[in-house]
Amino acid sequence: MRFTDGFLEELRAKNDIETVVSSYVQLKPSGRLLSGLCPFHGEKTPSFYVYPETQSYYCFGCGAGGDVITFVRTAENLSYVDAVRLLANRAGLAMPEDQADDGTANLRKRCYSANREAAKFFHQMLQSDVGKSGFQYFHSRGVTPATIRHFGLGFAPDDWNCLTKHLRSLGFRDDELVQFNLSRKSKNGRVYDAFRNRVMFPIIDLQGNVVAFGGRVLDDSKPKYLNTSDTVVYKKSRGVFALNFAKNNSTKELILCEGYMDVIALHQAGFTNAVAGLGTALTEEQALLLSRYASQINICYDADEAGRKAAEKAVRIFSRTNVKIKVLRLTGGKDPDEIIKNSGVEKMRSILSGAMNDTEFRLSQAKEHLDLQVADDRLSYANEAVKILATLSNPIERDLYASKIANESGVSKSAVLSQIDRARHYQQKKQDQTRFALIEKQMNAFSKNDFYPPGTPIRVRNAEEHLLASLYRNPDFLTSSCKELSANDFSSQTNRTIFQRLTKIIEQGKNPSIHAFNDCLTPDEMGHLSKILTLSEKLGNNQKECQDCVAAIQEAKKAVAPQAIGKLSDDDFLKLFTKK
Ligand code: GTP
Ligand code: MN
Repeated sequence: MRFTDGFLEELRAKNDIETVVSSYVQLKPSGRLLSGLCPFHGEKTPSFYVYPETQSYYCFGCGAGGDVITFVRTAENLSYVDAVRLLANRAGLAMPEDQADDGTANLRKRCYSANREAAKFFHQMLQSDVGKSGFQYFHSRGVTPATIRHFGLGFAPDDWNCLTKHLRSLGFRDDELVQFNLSRKSKNGRVYDAFRNRVMFPIIDLQGNVVAFGGRVLDDSKPKYLNTSDTVVYKKSRGVFALNFAKNNSTKELILCEGYMDVIALHQAGFTNAVAGLGTALTEEQALLLSRYASQINICYDADEAGRKAAEKAVRIFSRTNVKIKVLRLTGGKDPDEIIKNSGVEKMRSILSGAMNDTEFRLSQAKEHLDLQVADDRLSYANEAVKILATLSNPIERDLYASKIANESGVSKSAVLSQIDRARHYQQKKQDQTRFALIEKQMNAFSKNDFYPPGTPIRVRNAEEHLLASLYRNPDFLTSSCKELSANDFSSQTNRTIFQRLTKIIEQGKNPSIHAFNDCLTPDEMGHLSKILTLSEKLGNNQKECQDCVAAIQEAKKAVAPQAIGKLSDDDFLKLFTKK
């Protein structure tokens, strides 16, 4: 079942790609195109382009591309139908009753619904007699009933299968519950609850769906937390706790902390822009996601060695995005939850306002184990500091910190500055090398997403891609130049599909548009199509060019089919022979 053309047309008309992409990426005009930093991979110079004319986008860095629906699918990690739904909501359009199904839509719906029921169940348990110990636990940690309701906190009873039974009674099958990570299956086939005797934290996505849970023990037993692993609706590496609340904050600042309890304590104290990653070290995906909802991120990791290490790593990851980073120095407790409890909200506020920017943070790290009264230590500090300052691109900032370092280390400011220059030179060289390595990596990544059979010659790829681009641009060439061509002549299934769909559109007398490919290509293949469309810039748009491509494709087809040599006409055989 597909959406009607009329509905999709209206959807697109009301969601032009420039506007939709702009809410994720800062776009700058670049000729007739718009460019910006790719939201799908970390980069510092823009290789992501939006083509208003074809309503498509393409990233020359990572090969991501498609139309507005592909963009939302990829950016929000949604199925085709859910991406359409999001755009429909955005434009105030009603979804048609009979929706398309890309295969997982139904499963995802079941998973959302099972998770929602589970969250309701845990929440009810917490408020009932069975959940007294959980309620006691939250109370002892200062969590108020209002906060419990706000976050939908819950309790998984000390029972082997009360949730499984409850969800069965609502019509969920055991295999579904196991797949959704709500239940587990033992070796002898018994199905039991995944979370038992734990207080429960539902993780809610940006659309308001419960997608996963964290569960904490009530004592000191191990493991302290259990978290849902990946399911059809949840990817841990993208998960951020409480972003659904924090994204509505007007400050454009987020507080990033380590744990569920920190987030809850901060929100309860009025810092409603606090979020947390979920147990793993910050991932690049999480950083990109957060950078879309904030222009500044205050890193508020625990005041221990692990927290400092994690903060250092996070600073590095965020430096690939364009958000401003500040690192908080926690005092008066090991984490925000403790600080608020021990020293009060005002203390927390003062820590937040005194946040160090990342340069200050790195400098303070550099002198942590040094004694600046000792000459040797002053020298090591100056050397370390020079390396840090050399990474600053702003010369005024470098000058400012150079004065500070000169003061602290007793080395003259001019010596500090000239060392910085040397270090910058060296770093530049190293950066060029890593950049080169990165490009190489990206090229390899490309071949993973290569839609051609191994060994397909560049010439053939070019011919096929140029032909498809040319037909897209000049539909009338189909009848004038491609009479002899069949879809089977293309070397890859993806190009075959594109050609077939293109033919169908043109034969129906319509103008080709990238949107018409959404239901026959995967998001990766949409990227391939977008790349093909970018070629139209380089086309001559004449029939000769189109015919040359057809000839090259057909010739190659003959060349790779030696078993068919016997069937060649004498002329064709001679041609092939002389070529070889
Ligand atoms: P408490 O204050 O003791 O409740 O915990 P916390 O929120 O301060 O957590 P902590 O600083 O110990 O850990 C930070 C985050 O790492 C937690 O919120 C969890 O998301 C995650 N985490 C901690 N312990 C475990 C564990 O044993 N297993 C897993 N998977 N994640 C954990
Ligand atoms: Mn804690």
